[in-house]
Amino acid sequence: MATPIIAGNWKMYKTTGEARAFVEALIPKVQGVRGVEVVICPPFTALGEALEAVRGSLIRVGAQNMHWADQGAYTGEVAPGMLKDLGCTYVILGHSERREYFGERDEEIGKKLQAALKHGLRPILCVGETLEQRERGGTQAVVEKQLRGALQGLDGESLSPLVIAYEPVWAIGTGRTASAADAEETIAFLRETLAAIGGRALAQKVPILYGGSVKPDNIKELMAQPNIDGALVGGASLEVDSFAAIVNY
Ligand code: PGA
Repeated sequence: MATPIIAGNWKMYKTTGEARAFVEALIPKVQGVRGVEVVICPPFTALGEALEAVRGSLIRVGAQNMHWADQGAYTGEVAPGMLKDLGCTYVILGHSERREYFGERDEEIGKKLQAALKHGLRPILCVGETLEQRERGGTQAVVEKQLRGALQGLDGESLSPLVIAYEPVWAIGTGRTASAADAEETIAFLRETLAAIGGRALAQKVPILYGGSVKPDNIKELMAQPNIDGALVGGASLEVDSFAAIVNY
């Protein structure tokens, strides 16, 4: 089984000062935690400050997006090598907010995923269905298409740093969590799909996280599911106490 990962997605919240204060308060609260990889994903502008503040601790830092090119005339974008140079370990790719508000498609997400692997960043690939897709029974078809689309052209070996986050869109920021059984069912399906793409060994190794209104009071039940290897946490990762409680599930 993969080492569990609890990752905080801060979205467009926190200044540099707020990021430092958060990390300084978090470190003593997660110091005793073993066997869980703790990750925070601040906005680009606070990555440097967060990386300095986590130094000497086991907390890892990730970005929330990046471009796929090594460098180039892409105004406003950030390259994978820049994130690596700063000291990032992870990068979230294909979050549903990127798909919805910025028009990201599986093809671009796939290019970003290849670029992340090339630059030694661990991609956290987000997949998930909308409420409408779920209600017409399309959950599995949607997440399979997103997964296959993003992993196209990659083999099992190169995919070993991959992390997947199953985030049903209707559960993000709504307070409405998928039931642990529903999350488990879709995550087990994603693991089978991953086995079909890259082999059983890969499917066992890749952590698959659940995301969508994860809170201190539902993390235990989610983590008790055999296929759920962790959580991608939005709102509840912005407060030190709730994030620390989730990490200490
Ligand atoms: P939420 O966000 O925990 O606030 O629902 C999760 C996410 O968007 O990654």
